Amino acid sequence: MPPPADQKTAPLPRNQKIAPLLRQPEASDGAAVWQLVSECAPLDRNSMYCNLLQCDHFADTSIIAEHDGDIIGWISAYIVPNEPDTLFIWQVAVAERARGTGLASRMLRGLLDRAACAGVTSLKTTITDDNEASWALFRRFAAAQGAPLEREAHFRRDEHFAGRHATEHMVTIGPFGAEKKAAA
Ligand SMILES: CC(C)(COP(=O)(O)OP(=O)(O)OC[C@H]1O[C@@H](n2cnc3c(N)ncnc32)[C@H](O)[C@@H]1OP(=O)(O)O)[C@@H](O)C(=O)NCCC(=O)NCCS
Repeated sequence: MPPPADQKTAPLPRNQKIAPLLRQPEASDGAAVWQLVSECAPLDRNSMYCNLLQCDHFADTSIIAEHDGDIIGWISAYIVPNEPDTLFIWQVAVAERARGTGLASRMLRGLLDRAACAGVTSLKTTITDDNEASWALFRRFAAAQGAPLEREAHFRRDEHFAGRHATEHMVTIGPFGAEKKAAA
């Protein structure tokens, strides 16, 4: 039986382990993923069609966290074209009530453990200067992997965003080895 509506918005207990199901997305998850991303500022809200394509075409490298039938976590990612050893993390979203429980970190590790990521030795993502939670997540992840983290301005405010979006810094974590991945 699904939980009552008010229970869905209550924070999940901090410092208490919850065990959401981590799984590959399916096309039928697209609308719920779109809803979660919409509720996770400052993420850009993509079209629902974009999330649908991610759930369908990028299912092997994307991950959903499900708790009591609700999607409470999501990472969209893909292997960079012409860079088969690099996983690019597109968006990470954790429902507000589930934050601080280590869920984003667990989803990242879950992705790297996938067969589709067997050849991955580096991870890339882009982060704006002001997204503290994102910096904390990826710094923590790099430390857990024992891997270096490098950053440099990549998509720039004026050159690439016509002044409408803060500069996105390309963050590269790696290379990391197979034994490090398993131990993290
Ligand atoms: C960023 C986000 C995905 C983190 O999810 P999460 O499940 O709470 O992250 P975790 O619990 O795995 O935390 C990982 C590390 O980051 C730290 N962290 C998480 N949120 C933080 C915050 N707001 N400020 C400072 N540190 C934070 C945690 O303390 C943890 O480090 P620790 O293990 O040393 O304590 C989540 O806050 C979110 O969805 N934010 C809105 C969308 C967004 O900005 N996404 C960024 C995309 S990369």
